[in-house]
Amino acid sequence: MALIDSFGRIHDNLRISVTDRCNIRCFYCMPDEGVKFQPKGEILSFEEIERFAQVAAGLGVRKIRLTGGEPLLRRDLPVLIEKLAAIPGIADLALTTNAVLLAAQARPLYDAGLRRLNIHLDTLDRARFRQITRRDDFDAVMAGIDAALAAGFKLKINAVAVKDLIEPDVVPLARFGRERGIEIRYIEFMPLDSQGLWLGGKVLRMDDMLAMLTQEFGPLEPRPEADPRAPATEFRFADGVGRVGFVASVSKPFCLNCNRLRLTADGKIRYCLFAVEETDVKDLLRAGAPDEAIAARIAETVRRKWIGHEINSTQFVPPPRPMYSIGG
Ligand code: 5AD
Ligand code: SF4
Repeated sequence: MALIDSFGRIHDNLRISVTDRCNIRCFYCMPDEGVKFQPKGEILSFEEIERFAQVAAGLGVRKIRLTGGEPLLRRDLPVLIEKLAAIPGIADLALTTNAVLLAAQARPLYDAGLRRLNIHLDTLDRARFRQITRRDDFDAVMAGIDAALAAGFKLKINAVAVKDLIEPDVVPLARFGRERGIEIRYIEFMPLDSQGLWLGGKVLRMDDMLAMLTQEFGPLEPRPEADPRAPATEFRFADGVGRVGFVASVSKPFCLNCNRLRLTADGKIRYCLFAVEETDVKDLLRAGAPDEAIAARIAETVRRKWIGHEINSTQFVPPPRPMYSIGG
């Protein structure tokens, strides 16, 4: 049985948030102070997450990405990695982190079976890092990247593209990526912040960034897409060294190819980052419900999936939960 929605999209990609907590405070995601986190008892245990993932794998899920908040804040994360890596059918397991705690954790995560990391980093400028994240952890992130490369991880860097802010970082990040063998992914700023700061005019768009990169490095070549459903549009540098990707969620929405399903840290299933509704599954997990009941709830949520977000329309309503509580 596959998870197919009413628009024929097959869902084989599950993103699991393991915590809503974070150790930094990126302004496009969290307010500086007074963040309300879920009480511990509301957060799914490793056993509950594993159970959900097993049932999802039985429904055709092949890829899992762990997100947060900041997943490395979750104690004993390698234990969860081991459990998920062992689920039959799961062909790809990855994790998105801000890398602040990565220097100490890279090795144990690798040893637990994780091979791919996306690191959230918007700038190589210490002052701008502090301005964006309201924390002074730039050196820790750099140490985390070094440790991850030394451990053998395949890395990507996610940079959130905010207009009138990260223009000076676009080229330096790309250069850094070329030097270190890391693909940089520029993610258009999306309306997911907790303070309602988003405006269409604050999005640094893919075409503008492409122009900046072309001016510096010469023409970029579109990379024949390995997976046509992947949200990133990828390019190779003409000299063959390195590549970049753009997640153009605002300027070129990719909803029609969407294969993703999300599980929040507090046990809700979401069919879209921007969904205004969600389905509880924690009740079933905690009531000792059979696999069939959990499978039915997942399938029913996917069937309700809408055609896509309407960020560019005047009717757009931001989701009631900010990014850190949904899971990126
Ligand atoms: N717009 C776009 N991307 C965002 N992220 C967090 N908040 C936003 C936003 N408002 C990204 C971060 C993180 C990923 C999970 O989501 O880069 O890496
Ligand atoms: Fe933390 Fe990620 Fe949100 Fe930044 S974007 S505050 S690193 S959860």
